[in-house]
Amino acid sequence: MPIGQTKPLLRVLGGETLTPPPWWLMRQAGRYLPEYRAARIRARDFVEMCLTPAVAAELTLQPVRRYRMDGAILFSDILMLPYALGQALTFREGQGPILEPIENRAGIGRLKPSQIMSHLEPVFDAVRRVAEALDTRTTLIGFAGSPWTVATYMVEGGTSKEFRQVKGWAYRDANGFGTLIDLLVEGTVDFLAAQMAAGAEVVQLFDSWAGILPEPAFERWVIEPTRRIVAALKPRFPDHPIIGFPRGAGLLYERYITETGVDGVGLDAMVPAGYARSRLQQLATVQGNLDPVLLIAGGAALESAVKELCRTLGGGPFVFNLGHGVLPETPPENVEALASLLAGSNAVK
Ligand code: CP3
Repeated sequence: MPIGQTKPLLRVLGGETLTPPPWWLMRQAGRYLPEYRAARIRARDFVEMCLTPAVAAELTLQPVRRYRMDGAILFSDILMLPYALGQALTFREGQGPILEPIENRAGIGRLKPSQIMSHLEPVFDAVRRVAEALDTRTTLIGFAGSPWTVATYMVEGGTSKEFRQVKGWAYRDANGFGTLIDLLVEGTVDFLAAQMAAGAEVVQLFDSWAGILPEPAFERWVIEPTRRIVAALKPRFPDHPIIGFPRGAGLLYERYITETGVDGVGLDAMVPAGYARSRLQQLATVQGNLDPVLLIAGGAALESAVKELCRTLGGGPFVFNLGHGVLPETPPENVEALASLLAGSNAVK
């Protein structure tokens, strides 16, 4: 971390403790905001929004203008990488993403790694625009999906319940599946390095489906690829913290932190705060982990949960966030209430 760093989020990711804690929310841009819904109606589709730099920059800034979070997360999607690799991708209202599934080694052969960077150029352009627009206390967060989570969508062709295809392939033909993971490791390193070169000051790796793998598979498909990504980025961007979010990792959070070398770790809402304080916070800055449904509930339930979380984790390096993304039903005024709770010194008393 450069000496004299004044941005609260960067200071805390560098190991400092701040009161009140810096905050941002996963999925802070999105359907709960009326101004997002208006932009969504104007645009032809979601992928187009991600690839139109002026639109992606504007959507990044929308929540920050309203609530002045400490972090502005780039508006994009983890599936832009498979899209850039040439895999067909559409988003249908209410259905989530739909991809043309890759089922075997021949499917991997149809991907085009050489075109990634040119196809993602509009994303880097959006990063440059946001970097120029932000004030001096707000940190720009870039991101990518982790190879395992991105692979689940590429192989299943969308969201899944049991993950039979992707797990089946990983268990049956680990070398073949490993070729896909290797390709995603390289693509993710290039994707994140270019975001950082364009102005992203922190990057987060979203591993939304880390929690569905038993330990040996978790080691091979979550820890190992993440370790390689961190090892490739650190020498090039030593001052850029990396946050890993292995959602659902449970008892494997500890190994994830020590073996990957991430600076910060995103905790899902099921990680007990007391456990995070005693076992994880000395290993990395912890980020999380309010249940997103509490942000829908609001009122006294929200207030007491926020205070409790800040009491438990606020004594060490802590970034306030949710345990997963903001849900579309969230009343915008509850996010305002959260901002006031965090700003008020009561939040940590
Ligand atoms: O956090 C932010 O505000 C930045 C933007 C962002 C989006 N997706 C925008 C988005 C980020 C960081 C993501 C990450 C992402 N995308 C993840 C990891 C985090 C998680 O939620 O587990 C995953 C798994 C995806 C893939 C994805 N994108 C799915 C499964 C869906 C459909 C479900 C849904 O919530 O709609 C998307 C669509 C998506 N990504 C939307 C937004 C704002 C909604 C698109 C719409 O308006 O219809």
